[in-house]
Amino acid sequence: MVSLVIGTQWGDEGKGKIVDLLSKETDFVVRFHGGNNAGHSIIVDGKKYAFHLIPSGILHPQAIGVIANGVILDLEVLVSEIQMLANEQIDLSKKLIISPRCHLILPYHKALDLAYENARGKEKLGTTGRGIGPALADKVSYNGIRIYELLDWKNFEEKFKFQAKIKNEIIKTFNVKPIEISKELKKLKSLREIILPFIKDTYEILQKAVTEKKNILLEGAHGVMLDIDFSPYPYSTGSNVITGAVNTGTGIAIKSIEQVWGVVKAYTSRVGGGPIPTEIFDKTAEQIREVGHEYGTTTGRPRRIGWLDLEATKFACQISDITDLAITKIDILSGLKKIKICMGYKLNGKSISYSSCGYNELAKLTPVYMELPGWNEDITKVREFKHLPKTCQDYIKFIEKFLGVKISIVSVGPAREEYIKL
Ligand code: GDP
Ligand code: IMO
Ligand code: MG
Repeated sequence: MVSLVIGTQWGDEGKGKIVDLLSKETDFVVRFHGGNNAGHSIIVDGKKYAFHLIPSGILHPQAIGVIANGVILDLEVLVSEIQMLANEQIDLSKKLIISPRCHLILPYHKALDLAYENARGKEKLGTTGRGIGPALADKVSYNGIRIYELLDWKNFEEKFKFQAKIKNEIIKTFNVKPIEISKELKKLKSLREIILPFIKDTYEILQKAVTEKKNILLEGAHGVMLDIDFSPYPYSTGSNVITGAVNTGTGIAIKSIEQVWGVVKAYTSRVGGGPIPTEIFDKTAEQIREVGHEYGTTTGRPRRIGWLDLEATKFACQISDITDLAITKIDILSGLKKIKICMGYKLNGKSISYSSCGYNELAKLTPVYMELPGWNEDITKVREFKHLPKTCQDYIKFIEKFLGVKISIVSVGPAREEYIKL
């Protein structure tokens, strides 16, 4: 069975937790797009893990982690994650494979990302600063360097020097310190030694796994509202986030995917710039941010907070052909007297859909809200739907009815066991 997990909002919906939860009997857990701009946190046996590149199901003993061709990766981050797991006595030598087709995020990409952001000043986009945009720009302009080149160090060295010299000229125009080419090469050479044994043809391995009907879980990163094509560009991330990215990012045919999980956080959060139609700035936002620990897993930035936006989420469900929903962080809403939920948008008195909006429209429109009563009880220990407070049940059922997609998991806490299966 091939399943996919997709974030339906602006990222940080709790995908990592859901992937870990679903990986119990999974043979392969696969990252297929994005890079280490992703930050997926999971809590297992009281210990917190934050993964940026290594698939979140890796802690299950049988699960093989796959970093497929669609991922762009920073060797330093990858090696630090491998070492972090080694310190936990988790040996990845037979548990992780990386495609030679993955493009590398190199030091000059990070320098360029930050230089562009600084140059934008007040208009900055709020990227994660991980070099994502510049690395993907290099990929499509044939200036990228893939893991493949690491197989032949001389080749890599040549390509790196060529690109780094050009990039340094650009970096200097921003009045930013250029990268030190020989120092960076030395570092990359030692990282290469650690990575080489993991490089395998992930395409072939995954095709065989599909044919043999193995369980494959595809781990989406980011959220549909950040998709490079279907977000309010340029307030986007550099990759496609929707289901279609699986085919280009792994080689697996879309028709092989039997189940698409949409992860929906019970409210909205976002890091970085760009409009959020349902954003709130009052005490409720502060309460949700503090109780929900809404600070970025990757950058530690405070996340912006809003009410659940069902207009946007409905779009995400439609475009990604979502079959099952996992609602997360519903426990964080405990204690709110009233909970608002956005059911549509109005602009100049007329209804407008999410897909018809660019960033200008999203910033100006008025959300149409429904207000539902809240609940006071701590629900983190609840394991059966019928034991949830009635108003909480109603909130969940309202979401399910509006989106027309069945809710199969309700997550009531960050730990692996804190969930209700429906
Ligand atoms: P991801 O990027 O979608 O994987 O999400 P992040 O890991 O960046 O952010 C989600 C945060 O919420 C993490 O700190 C999780 O441990 C936590 N989390 C996930 N699900 C739940 C939940 O149901 N309740 C609570 N309280 N926390 C959750
Ligand atoms: P996970 O997988 C939240 C956002 C950044 C920024 C924009 C562009 O943890 O849900 P980038 O560095 O990608 O060029 O930044 O995209 N962004 C995310 N926000 N969670 C993520 O991933 C994100 N990945 C990218 O904050 O607004
Ligand atoms: Mg995250």
